Amino acid sequence: MISGMRIAGSVVLLVSLASLAASAEAWSGSPDPARGERLYATCSACHGAAGMGQPEGPAPVLAGQHETVLLRQFADYRDSARWDPRMEHVARLRAFADRDDLADIAAFLSRLDAPLPADIGSGADLAEGARAFVGHCASCHGATGQGDGARGVPRLAGQHQGYLRRQVLDAVEGRRPALQASHGARFKSLSAASLDGLADYLSRNLRRVDPVPPR
Ligand code: HEC
Ligand code: HEC
Repeated sequence: MISGMRIAGSVVLLVSLASLAASAEAWSGSPDPARGERLYATCSACHGAAGMGQPEGPAPVLAGQHETVLLRQFADYRDSARWDPRMEHVARLRAFADRDDLADIAAFLSRLDAPLPADIGSGADLAEGARAFVGHCASCHGATGQGDGARGVPRLAGQHQGYLRRQVLDAVEGRRPALQASHGARFKSLSAASLDGLADYLSRNLRRVDPVPPR
């Protein structure tokens, strides 16, 4: 059963890499953020006019996310490597079959600064979360959670805490296969308090808050 799931997972990954490569070939290479802003009208019903998502965090903040990350996640929904009925529907609309459209939207979103505060946590596990972040996550996601566009590492700073918690739980419980494959062991070792604290710490957007030093 487990090996069957692994094989199915690798097939999905291969298919999604193949389609990414195919769409990369069709891309003209000079994204147009102004055109992306117009196309973003389709997305704003859920992700908000300013790219801030929904306040309680069902739809994530997209403002300020790296272009590489936006394109990769969108392709994952389209290619069934990430599951959400709303996003799978949007990602399969004919309008977004053209990679230029998405590249333009991603160029628009990545240039937006997150103007509003995200949904943050209670503060109870903040110090624990900061320690967990510095110890287990900052090496890739950056000292302030800013991610790394060139390496395809998502910005996590300023993301809604409810959304972040749900992504980690989805990965641990097998609903986000690509994230489970890359992060499974890392996430499984987190206590409930570390997870609450991590999501809270990141949601506060470390560009504006001094990081809590490790103990
Ligand atoms: C009907 C509501 C809805 C619409 C319309 C919508 N989204 Fe989403 N989007 C969501 C939800 C909900 C999620 C989180 C799903 C999950 O947990 O996987 C999401 C997630 C995403 C993510 C993943 C972000 C991350 O940090 O991993 C990207 C990228 C994204 N949407 C881009 C878009 C773009 C671009 C459009 C317009 C072409 C769009 N969405 C339209 C609801 C929507
Ligand atoms: C070895 C590098 C590395 C480390 C260490 C790492 N990550 Fe990641 N993380 C990534 C990459 C690359 C992605 C994008 C991959 C994907 O979505 O499949 C990612 C994606 C994520 C996402 C999904 C974001 C979204 O909106 O889709 C979350 C949440 C996340 N990481 C949290 C964490 C946390 C919390 C830790 C520490 C416990 C951590 N990561 C440690 C590299 C890393």
